[in-house]
Amino acid sequence: KKSVKNVEVRGKRVLVRVDFNVPLDEQRHITDDTRIRASLPTIQYLVQEGARVILASHLGRPKGQANPSYSLEPVAKRLSELLGQNVSLAGDCVGDPAMEAVSTLQDGQVLLLENVRFHAEEEKNDLAFARELASLAELFVNDAFGTAHRAHASTEGVTHYIPAVAGLLMQKEVEFMGNALERPERPFVAIIGGAKVSDKIGVIENLLEKVDVLIIGGGMANTFLKAQGFKVGKSLLEEEKVELAKQLIEKAKRKGVTLELPIDVVVAHAFEANAPHRTVSVSEIQEDEMALDIGSASAERFAARLATARTVIWNGPMGVFEMDAFAKGTERVAQAVAACGGITIVGGGDSVAAVEKMNVADRMTHISTGGGASLEFLEGKVLPGVAALQDKA
Ligand code: 3PG
Repeated sequence: KKSVKNVEVRGKRVLVRVDFNVPLDEQRHITDDTRIRASLPTIQYLVQEGARVILASHLGRPKGQANPSYSLEPVAKRLSELLGQNVSLAGDCVGDPAMEAVSTLQDGQVLLLENVRFHAEEEKNDLAFARELASLAELFVNDAFGTAHRAHASTEGVTHYIPAVAGLLMQKEVEFMGNALERPERPFVAIIGGAKVSDKIGVIENLLEKVDVLIIGGGMANTFLKAQGFKVGKSLLEEEKVELAKQLIEKAKRKGVTLELPIDVVVAHAFEANAPHRTVSVSEIQEDEMALDIGSASAERFAARLATARTVIWNGPMGVFEMDAFAKGTERVAQAVAACGGITIVGGGDSVAAVEKMNVADRMTHISTGGGASLEFLEGKVLPGVAALQDKA
C-alpha cells in the first residue's frame, strides 16, 4: 500500500484515522495508553513535515449519540503530554465546530475531532457523512489498524472522496502479520489460546494452511481434549464444537501440521483465585474438577517447540492468567516466545496483557494494536479499512 511517506503533506490538511479506543477507569483515567503511543510515529512525522493534522477516532460504543462519558477529552490531554505540544479537541467531528477548529490550524499543529461514533452515520458508513468528514481535509491517512475490520465512514467511506494512504502503524501491522502469514521463515509455529473455540475457528482453519506447528491451549483446548476422547469434568466446554474439533484434528493430520494439545492441566473445583488446585494428566480430570491452566509438562513441551521456531504468532492466553494460581502456563509461554530468536508476533488483548505483565514486551518483534482486527487478519480476511487504501504506484 502507498504510505504517508509517498505523498506530499506540507501545508496540507491531513485527516488521520487513529484507533484511540483505549480503556478508561471510572474516573475516566486512561488505564493503558499503548494505542495512543503506537500512533505517535505517524503524527510526529506529519508534524515535522509541516502538515495540519486532524485526528479522528471512535471511543467505546456510544450508539450514535453524543455522550460526555465517551468524550475523547482524556485522550487529547494524554496525547498533548506525549507529543509535547497542545492538541485541542473540536466539539464535534463534523459541522461548524469541526470546520472552525480546522480553519485556525497552522502547519505542524494537531487537532483531535470528537468521537466519530457520536453520529449513527459513522457505523452505517453513510456516504453523506463520510463526505462531510472528508471535506475537512485534502488527504486521508488511515493509521487505525485496530478498526480496519470495520467498514465505517471514517475508515472506508472517506476514501471515496479524498486520496487515501496508510499511516506508519497501519503499514507496520500489515507488513509484519502479512509477511508472517505469506512468507514465513520456517518452522512457523502458531500458539492459540483463549476461552472459546468458537471465537477462533476461522483463525485455526486459516493457520492450518500455513503453519508447521499449531499449539492450542487455554479454555478452548478442553473441546479438543474431549474430541480426543478425554473427560474434561466441569471444565469450560463447547459441546456443540466437539465434532468440529475432531475435523480440525483430522485436517492437521492431512496437512502434515503438528498439532500440540495440553498433556497435563491445572485443575480446581471452582473458578476462584484461591481455589485449591493440582496438576494432573489430561486423562485424570475428575468429574467435579475444571481445568484452569495448562500444566508444567505441557508448558515445557510448548516451550521446546517455540525454542526452535523461526516465526511465531501468538494469540490468546493458556489459562486464567488474571489469577496467579492459573497464570503459570501463560507466563511460561510468554518467556518462551520472548526467548525465541525468530520473528515473534503477539496479537489479541489478553496475550498482550500477559506479555506486558511478564515485562517481555520489548523482546517481541511486533505486538499488534488490533483485537478483532488482528483476529480477522489471521483468518485471512481482507480488512475493508486496508482494502480501501491506494496501492503503491
Ligand atoms: C477494538 O478495540 O477492537 C477496535 O477499536 C474496534 O472497536 P469496536 O469493536 O467497538 O468496533
